[in-house]
Amino acid sequence: MTTSIGVVREAAVGECRVALTPDGAGRLQKLGLRVVIETGAGESAWFDDADYVAAGAAIGSREQVYAESDVIVCVRPPADARSARTGVMVVGLLGLLADPALAEQLAGAGLTAVSVDLLPRTLSRAQGMDALTSQANVAGYKAVLVAAGAYGGYLPMLMTAAGTTRPAQVLVLGAGVAGLQAIATARRLGAMVTGYDVREAAQADIASTGAAVLDLAATAGNGEGGYARRLTDEEAQAQQGALDAAIGRFDIVITTAQVPGRRPPLLVTVDALDRLRPGAVVVDLAASEFGGNVAGSQPDTTWVTPRGVTVIGAGNLPASVPQAASTAYARNICALLPVLLADGEIRIDFGDEVQAGVVVTHDGTVVHPQVRAALQKKEVRS
Ligand SMILES: NC(=O)c1ccc[n+]([C@@H]2O[C@H](COP(=O)([O-])OP(=O)(O)OC[C@H]3O[C@@H](n4cnc5c(N)ncnc54)[C@H](O)[C@@H]3O)[C@@H](O)[C@H]2O)c1
Repeated sequence: MTTSIGVVREAAVGECRVALTPDGAGRLQKLGLRVVIETGAGESAWFDDADYVAAGAAIGSREQVYAESDVIVCVRPPADARSARTGVMVVGLLGLLADPALAEQLAGAGLTAVSVDLLPRTLSRAQGMDALTSQANVAGYKAVLVAAGAYGGYLPMLMTAAGTTRPAQVLVLGAGVAGLQAIATARRLGAMVTGYDVREAAQADIASTGAAVLDLAATAGNGEGGYARRLTDEEAQAQQGALDAAIGRFDIVITTAQVPGRRPPLLVTVDALDRLRPGAVVVDLAASEFGGNVAGSQPDTTWVTPRGVTVIGAGNLPASVPQAASTAYARNICALLPVLLADGEIRIDFGDEVQAGVVVTHDGTVVHPQVRAALQKKEVRS
């Protein structure tokens, strides 16, 4: 029997992405899979039902998608995922390490949960499947546009008959995927860009874009798997003092620094905000309900300090570039699915490094060691 891949319409507020594009649907069908899309699933990303039909997919109600699919692909975890049949695989940015209770629920419903955000990022064969990277790229790009939109000046130097304007000075803190894209985008718009990251390797990456590297003489925080480690209190304090002193000359500051599994480090303090000129703009990509890189920033919230500095806590920026973000995400999904299927059938193999990374629940159990550990920690606390 042909395996069916179902795509549900994203239900989270403000989520405009779709997990599969018409092009992606066509690719999966070439692999011998059937694709069924919920009516209007691609609408907010500007993909019509008719485009999916032209690509060979079927269109159906949400109930039909759940009833007919062996694999459900999504961007965010659907609240009604338990409507899927027992044994169905749910693939998406499920965020199960941060929400192990959801993993337990999905296991209880007999679903095989595949949390794409847990993909091992240093495996070169998994690069094309890396949705964290593809979506961070979109976020880094959009952060610059958001900052430029709120900034009262030009980003480039402009020479006109009426005189010359100076280019904006942009500082990007954190030069992982999003930060490097922000640096590249701000440079394309003509700004004078400076970058900073606590990892030595990232400092070389900044230099390779042609941007200046901010030298804070702070200890390099290289951690595991290419990520930053959490700085010690002394290191963080030294970094803070140096950053506070350096920040005042910038017009736009974009922060993207995260440390896996921990609240993001505070990089722009109240004191630093006070040192910025009136009219300066700060965009915090790391803003979350647990805090961000900027004092007082909240996701999806913009405020202006008494001194006139605009602080923008970014929300779900990839969702605000839905066509490009969905296209990239769908390519990641199309690269990942063949690893989870053998001859078109779901085949779970924990000997495979990619599967061992992303498969969180199977056969009614939470099988992922890190998610299990997170669950146990939660049980001990409650
Ligand atoms: N295929 C691959 O090899 C692959 C794929 C994706 C990412 N990566 C690597 O993983 C790393 C992180 O990726 P990401 O963008 O998802 O990271 P992230 O979103 O977790 O963090 C963003 C950046 O913030 C930096 N940071 C953390 N604490 C900081 C602090 N106190 N001050 C300044 N900067 C701080 C980190 O070093 C990182 O570069 C990068 O090295 C990236 O190249 C590798």
